[in-house]
Amino acid sequence: MGTFWSKIWGHSAADDIVDPATGLTGREKRLVQSTWSIVSRDPVASGVAIMTLLLERHPEYQLMFPAFRDTPKAELAANKKFQAHCASIITALNSVIDALNDEGLLEATLVAIGERHRRRGQTTEQFTNLKQVVMDTLRQALGTKFTEETEEAWKKTLDAAYTHLFRGLQGST
Ligand code: HEM
Repeated sequence: MGTFWSKIWGHSAADDIVDPATGLTGREKRLVQSTWSIVSRDPVASGVAIMTLLLERHPEYQLMFPAFRDTPKAELAANKKFQAHCASIITALNSVIDALNDEGLLEATLVAIGERHRRRGQTTEQFTNLKQVVMDTLRQALGTKFTEETEEAWKKTLDAAYTHLFRGLQGST
């Protein structure tokens, strides 16, 4: 009976179960996956939007990238090295979303990204600033689809991802 009604209302018991690895309910996972499928339809544009906003808020970060440190702002979006870093962020987010049900894979991917950035001297503050930029880019790209519930689901997703990223970044692996 429960199953019958849950099919009618589009709600299943799994919707309410909290995954201890991420803190996300089944419903929140679906919200993250469905909104990500909209944003990731154009990965280069989404990645460029994220990196452009990051550099707008923290222009000094551009100096850390030898490949485009001297590129004028107006030419950045067309710069292939710039696009490569933008695409890396989207690929990382893709693996975060894909691995929402595979904690081990998620952890390995993110710790490795953190480690590589630690070797170059990147800080947790820089990554935290990027997290805020990702949230704001999602809000802007999704408009009314970025409901309070979706925002909360994304916050939990990024917080879970950052736990692993920071372990690599802080060298505590
Ligand atoms: C989820 C977040 C991020 C992902 C997935 C990511 C991914 C990558 C990848 C794949 C590379 C090239 C390969 C490597 O050395 O690892 C790279 C390089 C780099 N990243 Fe990130 N990155 C992220 C965030 C950041 C942040 C927040 C900063 C600093 C504000 C940053 C600064 C750099 C720099 C300076 C390089 C070297 C570029 C070069 O030498 O040409 N990254 N990143």
